Amino acid sequence: MPTRIVAFSGNTHRPSRTRTLVEAVAAEVARLRPIELKVFDLVDAGTGIAVANRSALPLPAARIVEAIEGADALIVGSPVYKGSYAGLFKHLIDFVGPETQVGKPVVLTATGGGPRHALVVEHSLRPLFGFFAAQTAPTSVYAGDTEIADGRVADDVVRARVAQAAAELARLIDAAAPREAHHEALPRAAAR
Ligand SMILES: Cc1cc2nc3c(=O)[nH]c(=O)nc-3n(C[C@H](O)[C@H](O)[C@H](O)COP(=O)(O)O)c2cc1C
Repeated sequence: MPTRIVAFSGNTHRPSRTRTLVEAVAAEVARLRPIELKVFDLVDAGTGIAVANRSALPLPAARIVEAIEGADALIVGSPVYKGSYAGLFKHLIDFVGPETQVGKPVVLTATGGGPRHALVVEHSLRPLFGFFAAQTAPTSVYAGDTEIADGRVADDVVRARVAQAAAELARLIDAAAPREAHHEALPRAAAR
């Protein structure tokens, strides 16, 4: 059975460096393991996602949330906005049921306008997925403006980190126990 991977990128326009980065990680994972890949971004979510309740989400956005919940593993990415993940990226993640992410293998990525905000992956994205008790790959991937060009990763160091993160995700997928077992181990209330 191929591993069902969802790559979700918080870009609001295309072409997108962030989407390119999550797709690069996914391509690497696909070289290592059989996967069934779905890639989404905030453009796919459409307009009208500024709602307070999940039941009010437009269908395209609701489908993304459901895909994130149902995936065996995730590759997430956000552009850095004002020193953190994009607000609309977080807004969509806010609708994800916490119990669906417990123990889930996840690669964290981000892109920014320069090198100074590289630790957003560690300071913003890792705590967010720590909340979910997901299993984040130790290697996260950040790319600045010159490191992704013409729809590809254009920097050797970033390429190496993409390969490292993908290899770690593959190992986490291999090691992941059935998610039902994780649900039992962590009472629902503790996941909130
Ligand atoms: C509203 C806004 C805020 C931004 N804030 C930052 C920032 O704090 N740090 C940074 O390095 N880049 C910042 N950027 C630049 C984007 O993070 C960068 O261009 C990113 O790679 C865009 O990703 P995308 O091509 O997937 O949209 C900002 C861009 C916008 C539009």
